[in-house]
Amino acid sequence: MAATGLTLRGRTSGGHLSLRRLKSGRHSLGMVRLVPMNEAEFRESFERTVARRAADSVHRGVWTKERATEAARVELETFLPRGRESPGHHFAKVIDESNGKQVGEVWYFVREEGGKIRFWVDWIWTDPQERRRGYATAVFQRLSHEAAKLGAERMGLYVFLDNPHAISLYTKLGFSAQVMAMTKPVG
Ligand SMILES: CC(C)(COP(=O)(O)OP(=O)(O)OC[C@H]1O[C@@H](n2cnc3c(N)ncnc32)[C@H](O)[C@@H]1OP(=O)(O)O)[C@@H](O)C(=O)NCCC(=O)NCCS
Repeated sequence: MAATGLTLRGRTSGGHLSLRRLKSGRHSLGMVRLVPMNEAEFRESFERTVARRAADSVHRGVWTKERATEAARVELETFLPRGRESPGHHFAKVIDESNGKQVGEVWYFVREEGGKIRFWVDWIWTDPQERRRGYATAVFQRLSHEAAKLGAERMGLYVFLDNPHAISLYTKLGFSAQVMAMTKPVG
C-alpha cells in the first residue's frame, strides 16, 4: 500500500480549526500540553514503534516475518542515531491539561534544510479510549503554532492510504497530498 506525503501550509488553518472546535463545544486550543518523554518513556515508545513498523511491513509484504523486527530496529536506529538526543527530534507525551492524564504521544522533528525550516510529524497516537474527542486535533494546533513560531512555512507528515481515519483527520486539518509512493508486483 502506498504512503502519501501531506503538507499543511502557513498559520491560517490552525486558526480556523481552533474556532471550529470552540463552536462545536468539544475542545479548544490549550487543552493539551506536550511534555517531553524521559528516557524510559522514550525507550518504551521506541520499542512499540519497532514492533508496529515490523508488523506493518510484514502486512504490506515489504519485509519477512523473520527479519522484520531487526530491519525495523536498524531503520529506526539509523533515523535516530542518538536516540532521544537525536538533534532536532522531539518525543512528547500528550497530556490533557484538565486532569493531567496522558492521552497520547507524538514524535516530530524540526531542522533547517535548504534555507527553510522543515517541520515534520513522524508519529501521532491517541489512546483508543480517548479517540474522536479532539485530542489529535489539539496536538496539531499546538504543533502548527510551534512550527510557525520557528519560521516554518508548512508542516508535513507521511500517511498510508489504508489509514482512512488519519487521512480524514489530516484533510480536516488542511493537509493535502504532495507526493505518492507507488508500487507494483513484478514477474
Ligand atoms: C488518527 C488518530 C491520531 C486520531 O486521533 P483522535 O484523537 O481520535 O483525533 P481527533 O478526535 O482530533 O480527530 C477526529 C477526526 O479524525 C477523523 N477520525 C478519527 N478517528 C476516526 C474514526 N474512527 N472514524 C472516522 N473518522 C475518524 C475524523 O475526521 C474526526 O473528526 P470528527 O470526530 O469531527 O468526525 C487516532 O485514531 C490514532 O491514534 N490512530 C492510530 C495511530 C495512527 O494511525 N496514527 C497516524 C499515523 S499517520
